[in-house]
Amino acid sequence: MAIRKVREEGDEILRKKSKEVEIIDDKIRDILNDMVETLHKYNGVGLAGPQVGMLKRIIVIDLYEEGTQIYKLVNPRIVKTKGSVELEEGCLSFPDQYAKIIRPEEVEVEAQDENGKKVRIVGKGLLAQALAHEIDHLDGILFVDKIIPGTLEKVTPEE
Ligand code: NI
Repeated sequence: MAIRKVREEGDEILRKKSKEVEIIDDKIRDILNDMVETLHKYNGVGLAGPQVGMLKRIIVIDLYEEGTQIYKLVNPRIVKTKGSVELEEGCLSFPDQYAKIIRPEEVEVEAQDENGKKVRIVGKGLLAQALAHEIDHLDGILFVDKIIPGTLEKVTPEE
């Protein structure tokens, strides 16, 4: 496993649309594992393919809650949403920036796992937010596109 470089604000790859993964092989599993390692290094909740320079429809999510799994999803798509809620959000590609954003309260996602098995996830709360955020990345959509005007905060990192 290896840490991958996280692409940041201004990198045009973040604006591109990712391609469906047709064959889920060891190469894809290696990228997913690297993405999890990279996510953990930066204490992020989620990471999407384009953020590590891979225009593939793959995402990883870890909520760091007891009893929750680390999600490694291939070709995820939202099939249903319920409600909407105002949340605070950030992104590993926009270090130290946070804003208020409207997201669905609940999302239902269909995807494949790292072995190609079909999975269906009903996410609420932080899981719903992370799924929606990461799936947006696969279409070149960034959280800054959706922020409630005037709520963007830039935080000076503490040394
Ligand atoms: Ni992000």
